[in-house]
Amino acid sequence: MNKKPIGVFISGRGSNLKSIVNACKNEKFPAKVVCVFSDNANAEGLQFASKNNIDTHTLDFNNFENKGHYEVEIIKLLKPYDIELICLAGYMKIITNTLISCYPNRIINIHPSLLPKYKGLNTHQRVLDAREVESGCSVHYVNSKIDDGEIIMQTSVPIENADNSNTLSKKILKAEHELYPAAIIKVLKK
Ligand code: GRF
Repeated sequence: MNKKPIGVFISGRGSNLKSIVNACKNEKFPAKVVCVFSDNANAEGLQFASKNNIDTHTLDFNNFENKGHYEVEIIKLLKPYDIELICLAGYMKIITNTLISCYPNRIINIHPSLLPKYKGLNTHQRVLDAREVESGCSVHYVNSKIDDGEIIMQTSVPIENADNSNTLSKKILKAEHELYPAAIIKVLKK
């Protein structure tokens, strides 16, 4: 199968990166991760990428005058890979139009809630405080607003009385690891 090249952006742990890379090992999966970018040179996920022979790149935002200049540099780094899709996976920087206009409808993100509910940070605690009976995760297209673009796929996860933000985040993360590869398949079929 002719696999499409994709890039993954991370800032930390990289468990979603891992699930995507592992999914790519199946010859029927339509993509392969050709590079990983991080704003954080210490992101754990970078080591996993290197061990799997995937190119890694990091850029420290502090060395740039503004987000526009930062993203221009990212675009230069990505160019040689000719990537079809950028998957944000725990990437903590807000993306601006500089990058979005270069990859129209080709940047997606995963968020640990049933969007459009609970955008932003500290999701699980806010969900519990609101006494929701379910939460979940969403993969969506990225626009310049936080966790805002068109939803591609979602999985819901029931909340039990005994759940706290730690147990809920674990359950949802497990669902994320199934959802992200499935959403990549759906997007690349279009
Ligand atoms: C995930 O919960 C994802 O939904 C959110 O950030 C977390 C990243 O986790 N955007 P990991 O780095 O993939 O383990």
